[in-house]
Amino acid sequence: MKLAIIGTGYVGLITGACFAEFGYQTVCIDKDENRVNDLNNSKCPFYEPGIEDLLDKHLNKTKLLSFSNSLSASIHDADIIFITVGTPTKRIEGEADLSFVWNVAEEISNNINKYCIVVTKSTVPVGTTKEVKSIIAKKINEKNFDVVSNPEFLREGSAINDFMRPDRVVIGCENKKSEDIMKELYRPLYLLETPLISTTVESAEITKYASNSFLATKISFINQVADLCEKVGADVQDVAKGMGIDKRIGNKFLHAGPGYGGSCFPKDVKAFITTAQKHDVDLSILSSVDTFNENRINKISKKIISKANLNKGDYVSLLGLSFKPNTDDVRDSTSLKITKLLQDRGIFVKAFDPEAMDNAKKENTELQLFDSAYEACEDTKAIIIGTEWNEFRALNFLKIQKSSKNLIIFDLRNIYNAKEIEELGLQYFGTGK
Ligand code: UDX
Repeated sequence: MKLAIIGTGYVGLITGACFAEFGYQTVCIDKDENRVNDLNNSKCPFYEPGIEDLLDKHLNKTKLLSFSNSLSASIHDADIIFITVGTPTKRIEGEADLSFVWNVAEEISNNINKYCIVVTKSTVPVGTTKEVKSIIAKKINEKNFDVVSNPEFLREGSAINDFMRPDRVVIGCENKKSEDIMKELYRPLYLLETPLISTTVESAEITKYASNSFLATKISFINQVADLCEKVGADVQDVAKGMGIDKRIGNKFLHAGPGYGGSCFPKDVKAFITTAQKHDVDLSILSSVDTFNENRINKISKKIISKANLNKGDYVSLLGLSFKPNTDDVRDSTSLKITKLLQDRGIFVKAFDPEAMDNAKKENTELQLFDSAYEACEDTKAIIIGTEWNEFRALNFLKIQKSSKNLIIFDLRNIYNAKEIEELGLQYFGTGK
């Protein structure tokens, strides 16, 4: 089977490299020449554990993977074409901007000349895959192609493992022919007994948004419970443990913190709300999830300023800039939002992140960056733990205390034990404790 993947962003690149690992001849296409040149030298545009080894293996050893700038030269002999371009939030409306998807559909219609399947893997609102079909059908007979919705559920930082060992694969097809080909594509996962959910195109599209929105809801829920815990002397971690042990609830995504960020949850929740509104359906539960998450960072910043008595000209240290560990992605990073709110009050932010400093600097030029957590924590009034990177889990606070008196720790991710920190003579504030 020959595969073509259009768009070498996060989803496209992981998908392409992993399908090559399954043994399929795969070409990944992108308009960005520099990106394609870098990829042809096994250089990945973002940090993701394991991806560069996979690129190197399939570019240079198995030669199953290639990268190209030319869509017309690359898709004509593909059996399956994946659309993996971005679907960002439109600035004003909150809905997904599908212009990249429409352009690609148009280009596909100009360049296919044998039967193939066109798969939407980008996260797209319900109805989009059928719209892709209509665009292609303007030039190609409907017998000569099929469309399929096959959403991804990859988490940054563990995307390769998520692809190779998924909880499920969802395929939304219109007929048996395309369903059989998609099942054959994912046959390497049968050995692991991965559930394959075969459904309609619309159900597959909705499954993706409903999954991400549900996880975001779990996070906002536990964060609201955390706020209550703070007021009444309870500990949200104990509460989450007590809840999560119930199999109907589950213990995942019940970690209280500064709120969800990243390239998916904020955008997908907003787009799902807009879809519901368009169809006059009440999904107000999600509007509440979204608004609470948006406002949370403001409240947290105010709490930091007041508890640490921060004034104009003071220094604070921020550990972790990426939206979560094991990624250099700072899109919708709560750490960068806190930074901005503190800087607006004239407070200087000294920061360290193991991977995300280059990206963070592009977003916030005022940020003072250091080579290690310890250097970022010298001469400071407070330390904010913004992202739970492993290397922040066992800091030597005695060493840090030498240069900073009356230090306050704001552990937004609850990675430390309050008692142990307080015994060292530092003040400690977790989340929901
Ligand atoms: C998410 C989905 O998990 C994935 O299936 C989808 O394909 C893309 O979006 P990702 O954005 O990479 O993946 O990260 P995820 O691990 O889901 O975390 C998202 C955000 O939620 C992060 O900001 C994280 O810090 C936050 N989070 C997660 C919490 O605050 N508490 C939790 O318990 C879990």
